[in-house]
Amino acid sequence: MSTREKIDDLFERSKKIETGGGQKAVEKQHQKGKLTARERIGRLLDPDSFTEIDKFVTHRCVNFDMAGKEAPGEGVITGYGTIEGRLVYVFAQDFTVLGGSLGEMHAQKICKVLDMAMQMGAPCIGLNDSGGARIQEAVDALSGYGKIFYRNTLASGVIPQISVILGPSAGGAVYSPAITDYVFMVKNISQMFITGPQVIKAVTGEEVTSEKLGGAMTHNRVSGVAHFAAEDEEDCFGQIRKLMSFLPSNNLEEAPYLETGDSPERMDEALNEIIPDNPNAGYEMVEVIRKVVDNGEFFQTMSLYAANIMTGYARLNGRVIGIIANNPKFMAGCLDINASDKAARHIRFCDAFNIPIVNFVDVPGYLPGTTQEFGGIIRHGAKLLYAYSEATVPKITIVTRKAYGGSYLAMCSRDLGADQVFAWPTAEIAVMGADGAANIIFRKEIEGADDPVAKRAEMIEEYKERFATPYVAAERGFVDIVIEPQETRPRLANALEMLATKRETRPAKKHGNIPL
Ligand code: HXC
Repeated sequence: MSTREKIDDLFERSKKIETGGGQKAVEKQHQKGKLTARERIGRLLDPDSFTEIDKFVTHRCVNFDMAGKEAPGEGVITGYGTIEGRLVYVFAQDFTVLGGSLGEMHAQKICKVLDMAMQMGAPCIGLNDSGGARIQEAVDALSGYGKIFYRNTLASGVIPQISVILGPSAGGAVYSPAITDYVFMVKNISQMFITGPQVIKAVTGEEVTSEKLGGAMTHNRVSGVAHFAAEDEEDCFGQIRKLMSFLPSNNLEEAPYLETGDSPERMDEALNEIIPDNPNAGYEMVEVIRKVVDNGEFFQTMSLYAANIMTGYARLNGRVIGIIANNPKFMAGCLDINASDKAARHIRFCDAFNIPIVNFVDVPGYLPGTTQEFGGIIRHGAKLLYAYSEATVPKITIVTRKAYGGSYLAMCSRDLGADQVFAWPTAEIAVMGADGAANIIFRKEIEGADDPVAKRAEMIEEYKERFATPYVAAERGFVDIVIEPQETRPRLANALEMLATKRETRPAKKHGNIPL
């Protein structure tokens, strides 16, 4: 072959691989409302930024009819590109090639981008669309998964890892996404389950559709496996790019600073009116957050799960902050198993990636009941205490209203290491609510009174005045500053500035033993 012919040969080989599983398979993919792997990469990354590697990698399986079977790209496209100009590594499983199934060499391609992402300190985004372990490759396929799980774990806390489920993800294949930091799913095309509907029917007799069993809404609303639900793939890629705008590329970097044009001195008078006079009435904590952060932009994670606590990202004076906030509008904002898990995981991500944590607190306590106790609220609730105590990034707490008992401590109190605690004058920081407290400590006075009902009301009032305030905590220094609600933003901006150089070292150890 002449040089020219060799170059043409390269083009031809390359083009053949780019057609993936062929026109028919591509049509089938489109008919399901799904994009192809190459189309996905093109839409996720900055235009023309993708560089493909390992295009010619191929399997070496000879079992069954595999010896003569071509698998263009080995059923997965790998490489690197940029999002808003920042380097990211990507792999996209190609369902048109052997159902995107994962064999030895397919896994090797994924492992290579994970290794490179770790070395270069850049996030890795995996687009999953696969029939699972390539059955013909038997234990080699399983080993491939094992190698990926191992790398996902090594990379955890070093680079952000994002999993996007854009088709089936079944059996052990679900565990790579589960180890990564964020899981995105798209309505009607994403499914994750350990055992599918047929196996469930055969074993338990239970009948369930695959969408109900493991679709986007199930994992966003019910199981908490997924963090984001998208309407379609386009929406999904938009959400990923948005999330990326808040994340640093690795654990040695700061999250990207952005000039937001919103003055740190801005106050909002409406905050002075937002707490209702009725202590049992809810209010929109999300509004409080929006009035405080830059340009009112609060990007929530897991917004459909455990709505009694809100987690997410925002900017304050251009700097990224992680937010944890009780939501008095849902289950009165009390803590339960799911809220504890959700918040603890967010805290740990923020801490691993140098993102200061800001907590908005209005928490009446833990959700009572046998469901919670039997489900292990003690073990799950402990994660929240552990995660806050373990976090060494700047931690700021703002108590807007209730902060009672154990839940007061759990929501990043001074004793769990908050660097600054602010309280609004409406804060009620005490062991428990006034009604319950008065019943216990003034029981004798109430029972012995001529009019126990009136006496009870009087004692509740007395307790409220003395204890349902921020001042007892402020007298002991558990609250640093009692602030006017409208000045929350300038106070926060000032505190974050002051804490920017915070360094905290802990006793050397291999790792702690977070209650799981
Ligand atoms: C080899 C596979 C495959 C697999 C699909 N294909 N899954 N080849 N190994 N796991 C092939 C099909 O044979 C077919 O090839 C092509 O991909 C497209 O698949 P279809 O079945 O035509 O597609 P569709 O009708 O959309 O169904 C998709 C599916 C189904 C629901 C995912 O393919 C399926 O059930 N696959 C098997 C799923 C499974 O049980 N996987 C193992 C899970 S256990 P042709 O040549 O006909 O086009 C597992 C363990 C991991 O993954 C453990 C890690 C620790």
